[in-house]
Amino acid sequence: TPASASPHDASRTGTRQYTADDDYTAVWSRADALKLKQDSTNTAPRVSPDFPVMTDKVWVWDTWPLTKLNTQTATYKGWHVIFSLTAPRSVPFGDRHWYAKIGYFYSRDAKSWKYGGDLFPAGTSFGSREWAGSTALVGDKVQSFYTASGHDNGGVDPSDALQRLAQATGKIHADKNRVWFSGFRDHRIIAEADGKMYQTLEQSQQGPIIYAFRDPFVFRDPRDRKVHLLFEGNTGGTAGSYQCTKRDLGDLPAGHEVPEDSKYYTGNIGLATADGDSMENWKLQPPLLSANCVNQQTERPHLIIRGGKYYLFTISHKFTFAPGLSGWDGLYGFVGPGLRSDYRPLNGSALVLGNPEDAPTQQYSHYVMPNGLVESFIDTVPTPDGGTRFGGTLARTLVLSLKDDRTRLAGQLDYGFIP
Ligand code: FRU
Repeated sequence: TPASASPHDASRTGTRQYTADDDYTAVWSRADALKLKQDSTNTAPRVSPDFPVMTDKVWVWDTWPLTKLNTQTATYKGWHVIFSLTAPRSVPFGDRHWYAKIGYFYSRDAKSWKYGGDLFPAGTSFGSREWAGSTALVGDKVQSFYTASGHDNGGVDPSDALQRLAQATGKIHADKNRVWFSGFRDHRIIAEADGKMYQTLEQSQQGPIIYAFRDPFVFRDPRDRKVHLLFEGNTGGTAGSYQCTKRDLGDLPAGHEVPEDSKYYTGNIGLATADGDSMENWKLQPPLLSANCVNQQTERPHLIIRGGKYYLFTISHKFTFAPGLSGWDGLYGFVGPGLRSDYRPLNGSALVLGNPEDAPTQQYSHYVMPNGLVESFIDTVPTPDGGTRFGGTLARTLVLSLKDDRTRLAGQLDYGFIP
């Protein structure tokens, strides 16, 4: 970057735009990731070990609000509604993924959440557990997207890494006491990894690290007026066959060696586009962004649009960075001039909010709302006696200030405040 670069320098937010079905994928390069550095603008405050728990029935982790297709949160008859991955608290915290079901909560004040139970009728969803997704209120219908994780009726099997994107349609109801849903009996698998743009489970088999085709996030792009899904994938092809390109590496400092095994790290942010407003058929498109040779996991991608700029966010872990790189569990982001564009990493490196060094897994699964509020769940928090306390409940909402290609942590609010 030339010394004269100002925050308004277009080169730092990207200038090139493409259509959703163009074959252009932006990159998060190794050179970008080598700039990862924590400071007061991007380090989350310590989660207090005496946090309150939303419900004693279920562990709560990945959470998203009911939204409109424009990504804004929606209310229904004055109720705020959120959806969370849940598992009974009787299951060990670390095993929750294998029991996950989408549950819902409702609230009048967007922070005292009442647990409403499972979103889908028993036995209707695909896969052997339900992983993250998104839920949009469209007219009087609720369009629900989720990850059908594991094979159908596969039972509790942590070795079953199959993931497919699924959709079901229901209706929301409310009276002055509660919120409930009906429908959700028409589940469909709407996208599967194709092996070319997105790695299949079979292709991932030899890879040393966890595979992904999951986490659909629905929205309408105001420019092309089409309904799209973002999701997390890995670059197509057999694990280990990928060859890091010059573009993946970027402008590396002299002497930076790229360890051979970096080729196994091929996370991307995928795109699928609906054929019309009825969202009947979905077409896989080339990824919007790849992290080849940088990171294997770009989880729960989502976006907000501000001042004509597209802010693309994803969550990632310290342990999923390619060898020779290191980062933090937390929120990462990119900014570009359009949905498919030459996204540039926010803050130079892409780090937006990372966990503090002394509490590396305190919270995760951050989700940025268009108002700049960031919700996440509490994971594992160090206690003063040298032990840990599991969370499985929503963390305090963090406030993010966003300007051009810079973000800054601007404060923290109540636990689970999701307006
Ligand atoms: C993020 C995540 C998601 C996935 C879910 C599984 O915390 O790994 O990518 O859908 O958790 O529990």
